Amino acid sequence: MHSTVRLARLSSPVPVSRLQILAQSVALSSTAPRRHASNVSEPRTSPSTRYLKPTYDLSAPSQSSATTSTIALGEEYILPVYARPPFVLSHGSGSWVWDVDGRKFLDFSAGIAVNALGHADAGVSQVLQHQSSTLLHTSNVYYNQWAPKLAELLVTLTETDGGLGYAAGSTSPSSSNAKHGAKVFFSNSGTEANEGALKIARKVGKDRWAATTGEKADDPSCPKTRIVCFENSFHGRSMGALSVTSTEKYQAPFRPLIPGVSVGKLNDMECLDSLVGDDTCAVIVEPIQGEGGATAATEEWLRALRKRCDQTGSVLIYDEIQCGLYRTGTLWAHSALPVDCHPDIITMAKPLANGYPIGAVLLRDIIASTMTAGTHGTTFGGSPMACAVGHHVLSRLSDRAFVAHIEKISAYMSSRLELLPKWFPTMLQPHVRGRGFIRGLGFNDVSHPGKVVQLARERGVFLLTAGKDAVRLVPSLNVEKEEVDVALDVLEGCLSSLRG
Ligand SMILES: Cc1ncc(COP(=O)(O)O)c(C=O)c1O
Repeated sequence: MHSTVRLARLSSPVPVSRLQILAQSVALSSTAPRRHASNVSEPRTSPSTRYLKPTYDLSAPSQSSATTSTIALGEEYILPVYARPPFVLSHGSGSWVWDVDGRKFLDFSAGIAVNALGHADAGVSQVLQHQSSTLLHTSNVYYNQWAPKLAELLVTLTETDGGLGYAAGSTSPSSSNAKHGAKVFFSNSGTEANEGALKIARKVGKDRWAATTGEKADDPSCPKTRIVCFENSFHGRSMGALSVTSTEKYQAPFRPLIPGVSVGKLNDMECLDSLVGDDTCAVIVEPIQGEGGATAATEEWLRALRKRCDQTGSVLIYDEIQCGLYRTGTLWAHSALPVDCHPDIITMAKPLANGYPIGAVLLRDIIASTMTAGTHGTTFGGSPMACAVGHHVLSRLSDRAFVAHIEKISAYMSSRLELLPKWFPTMLQPHVRGRGFIRGLGFNDVSHPGKVVQLARERGVFLLTAGKDAVRLVPSLNVEKEEVDVALDVLEGCLSSLRG
């Protein structure tokens, strides 16, 4: 349906066809060091020894003035809330980035699961250039051409690909699977999308309480205001999102947080009855926890959670900010699940505009109907710029050839990852976590993930930690097989050198 996308009313339309995406992939893979490519026909019997030694010495900043002066400037003027490695990135192409001293890195962090189409994508760049010189920002006081188009694409893709109560494979919103419509609210980040979702759920809770008691919805005595979240969740850093991010190191310095939050255990069936009650207005969960350790919720548990939300009239929110938008190979991480596992609200952000800031709340009409003019808002959200880029990116990600590429290459990555616990059984937990291109390797020693990320960086590959005990791989979705081979060869080199 979206194999060829023309940006309407642009003087120089940007056609994005299967051919263009393939051509781009070929160009991209030609930047990969093919000499490292493995021969798939030969079964792997032992870890690669190609990267036992570091490629770069990153123990101290390079002596180049470009690096030292930038780091010094940052140290003087930027709030030191991040511990950054001592180099300065200057440009990228596909899955690769370079620093100002010419060092080249394979980016398997993709801007923390953001750059789905890689760095410096030509199509994204054209849309940014065109839209910035046409209409960049108008505020939400006025309509713009792109916000409704992107909202329509999000809803129609959800109808066909599955999610939010639509079974995968529905072909039209009038089918028996689709008894409802859906609406979108655009924000600027993931945190803001979650703030919006929590506010909407609060309002729905008050409406539902008012409908059963005959009281006014804004009566301050309304008890249906509690929110449920889960251990190791990550939903953002603003006060509301932080209050449902149940990780001590993030919350402790900022208490008191918003009251009325209960914390359960992911995949724990026993806790659900006591955790979610009549006073619960919202339950928020990541179908695959990203920051918390790449841990997936099970289908049975999501079904039980949905059922408990229905029993208590609680709004079920799936935070798909990291795991959604084709990272698992389907539109949503829950797209392939039966509708009795689906949420009322989906939040998204990261890859939607490939790095241009955007977030969104997608909600069933039955939930959306509580929100009227003036009940929520944002200055920047839904700008023509963000939505034009988002429409372009989502059209490309949803192209069937692109989805097939994700399936094929992520299956290949999986086949290599699955070997690691067998080769390093004392270091690694037996099961590789996550799905598609959101994968986590669990370590038995919690000091190891940070060390592996550092060792990989010294060998020219960016990885991430996740939770207390995992290394996370979230590459760009257009990553090529040769690049997966480089990342896995490096990972194997790091594990071998750590084992000693
Ligand atoms: C699942 C999830 N929710 C929310 C957020 C917060 O998003 P943002 O950093 O865009 O505010 C993140 C960020 O990592 C995330 O992974």
